[in-house]
Amino acid sequence: MNIIKSISVKNFRSHQNFSLSCNKPTTLIIGENGSGKTSILEAVYLAMRGKSFKGTDAEMIRRDADYYRVELSYIDREKIIIRYNGSHKEFDVAGKKSRRLPVKYQYPVILFEPDNLHLVGSSPARRRDYFDHLFSQMDEQYSIALRKYARALKQRNDLLKNTTATPDNVFSWDIMLARYGTELSLKRQANISKINQTLTDVYREIAKNTDNCHLHYTGTIVDENHYLKTLTNNFERDRIYGHTSFGIHRDDYEFIFNHTLASGSASRGEIRSIILALKFIEASIINEAIGKNPLVLLDDIFSELDEARQTHLIKNFKNHQIIITSTTTPKNLPIDIEL
Ligand SMILES: Nc1ncnc2c1ncn2[C@@H]1O[C@H](COP(=O)(O)OP(=O)(O)O)[C@@H](O)[C@H]1O
Ligand SMILES: [Mg+2]
Repeated sequence: MNIIKSISVKNFRSHQNFSLSCNKPTTLIIGENGSGKTSILEAVYLAMRGKSFKGTDAEMIRRDADYYRVELSYIDREKIIIRYNGSHKEFDVAGKKSRRLPVKYQYPVILFEPDNLHLVGSSPARRRDYFDHLFSQMDEQYSIALRKYARALKQRNDLLKNTTATPDNVFSWDIMLARYGTELSLKRQANISKINQTLTDVYREIAKNTDNCHLHYTGTIVDENHYLKTLTNNFERDRIYGHTSFGIHRDDYEFIFNHTLASGSASRGEIRSIILALKFIEASIINEAIGKNPLVLLDDIFSELDEARQTHLIKNFKNHQIIITSTTTPKNLPIDIEL
């Protein structure tokens, strides 16, 4: 069940030299605020996903140092070494060097951090990022389409800012937006309905009640030609505003709790249970999509949950390797390292 064996970092954030062995299914890291717990999870994530969840490479180099180095050893995969010297980043895997972590050496990770508890009430952009990120881990084509869409959108918006722009100038980008936008929209709809198949049941398991919850993806695009036509029809308006008003970059994901918006109706505890349920489902749909059990990183989340939810969390992820950070010692969990 264990996936990774150890992580070592040099000049990474506040750590000059730090190593952690993960011999058990659950590794618990205890330390005060600012002691460098999140940084360790960041290094693990970087080695498994190819980039950080929070910062740039330059930010990760320890102040006053001129490079960082991260080495992650898997149990039965090639180990990953990453070096960054302020201008050049290099992944070293199986004797081959590359600037990006090749997809076949990426490994799925579920990161659960306190900020996730605000997902329900945060901005549409944050929710889009959140689900884009999840769907990218499940499907390489999704992440490719996402990059191509973002590039086309930027090009089109740049052209629109020019007052002499004509529909012909942007048409090739319209085609790209329609193609990749439709693909992304369809995949988002399919993935959200997959999540909805179990969301209420998993939620009820956690909350021990009979409330309903589901996600509503506001995007409805299913047809590439219609998408293209809408972009063309909107040209004049878009030129006046200087940006593209129609498309999947405007869509949102609404959390619905007992048939109304959860952000206005669910309590703090209910929202915690909804997010917990979502995390459980993420693990199973990633597994279903790519046949790998994600590594689970719980960053400072344990103390945010009551004992019943903590137990539920550990039980649910019993088939996963977990790394937990916390400022206080949770009951019933042995400490593996104290920072
Ligand atoms: N590049 C860096 N060089 C040195 N220290 C850093 C760097 N980036 C962040 N830090 C410091 O690391 C500490 C935060 O580490 P973090 O992993 O977030 O701690 P924790 O999660 O335990 O609260 C802060 O004191 C911050 O100032
Ligand atoms: Mg932290």
